[in-house]
Amino acid sequence: MTVITCIDDLKRLHKRRTPKMFYDYAESGSYTEQTFRENTTDFAQIRLNQKVAVDMTGRSTQGSLLGKSHAMPLALAPVGLTGMQRADGEIKAAKAAEKFGVPFTLSTMSICSIEDVAENTNAPFWFQIYTLTDDDYNRKVLERARAAGCSALVITVDLQLLGQRHKDLKNGLTAPPKLTLPVMLDLATKWRWGLEMLGTKRRFFGNIVGHVESAADPSSLASWTAEKFDQALNWDRIKRLMDMWGGKVILKGILSPEDAELAAATGADAIIVSNHGGRQLDGALSSIRVLPSIVSAVGDKTEVWLDSGIRSGQDVLKALALGAKGVMIGRAYIHGLGAMGEPGVTRALEVIQKELDISMALTGEKRIEDLGRHNLLIPNGFFDTYN
Ligand SMILES: Cc1cc2nc3c(=O)[nH]c(=O)nc-3n(C[C@H](O)[C@H](O)[C@H](O)COP(=O)(O)O)c2cc1C
Repeated sequence: MTVITCIDDLKRLHKRRTPKMFYDYAESGSYTEQTFRENTTDFAQIRLNQKVAVDMTGRSTQGSLLGKSHAMPLALAPVGLTGMQRADGEIKAAKAAEKFGVPFTLSTMSICSIEDVAENTNAPFWFQIYTLTDDDYNRKVLERARAAGCSALVITVDLQLLGQRHKDLKNGLTAPPKLTLPVMLDLATKWRWGLEMLGTKRRFFGNIVGHVESAADPSSLASWTAEKFDQALNWDRIKRLMDMWGGKVILKGILSPEDAELAAATGADAIIVSNHGGRQLDGALSSIRVLPSIVSAVGDKTEVWLDSGIRSGQDVLKALALGAKGVMIGRAYIHGLGAMGEPGVTRALEVIQKELDISMALTGEKRIEDLGRHNLLIPNGFFDTYN
């Protein structure tokens, strides 16, 4: 039995147990992957300030998102094709999140449908929408999310078109995979994945196939996205979508104070400082580097959260100490899922919570609300190297 001590352990198992096409889909960024890499290396540049001889009894990682208390102020980010990392992956991740006490977000581009997740969980989850040109689809999918009891809508604003990931093109990424010779040779070493996949009916884009008329083949993410995603999306359209939903809204994919002001002006309940895990604009700054400027611009108008690059509880602490009210994790839980299914997602959450708890104790903090700039040591010029 492998002893899992950190997210990297889960990542190694994920790579070993999942078809190359889907592991690569998760563990890559767009173009040169500069932003993807810097999301994590920038976190590593920030250090923690040790504080000794402080009573550390009675600590808690409890924190709130959108006014609701959770085991940590952390949610599972929307991740497309999660049900290709493991059979029924979205259901497994949502169950783990529910048992742990953190929110789960279902992507538009999921394999399990909104209804599949709702039927297999009790806690309300969040739904993430990619806006399509087809308003009829947008309206219907929001109705489905409402009927399933989704308690918030995440509108992703940084993907009107797809940043290119070289590996996806080279691997011929589709869901389900096309059985070419290289794919079959790869699958021969991933037999457990294959057996589980044979045991489920959920192998297509569950929120798309059967719900939208398509000229392009929906199994091909790149061509389908190019054809259907709304390149004309603007703030008016975002506002209209928010009105169509009528409930809590989180705007995901903000990277500058100017866009944050526009996002806050829509009345969004939260915004997520995010570069989509380095998968969209290669060359953009890491989320952690731009966080403080966005918190000072709109932190009193809306909840500011962060994602992109979080691989540990120490990273969570750093983001919260720099003013984020909450965080999302993407790959950190996907590695858990690909490694071990539902228990792997639970393990990822346990690892991060334990790291957060121990790091809080050693920085002399007992409560999430007390974390602040005083807990950090930051290289001079870190936030204003770029203008
Ligand atoms: C494999 C993969 C698929 C993703 N799919 C979506 C998606 O469907 N919708 C979305 O809003 N964001 C998507 N994202 C971005 C995540 O929601 C999140 O912003 C990102 O993973 C955070 O970075 P991290 O992976 O370093 O934690 C995806 C990310 C990954 C890694």
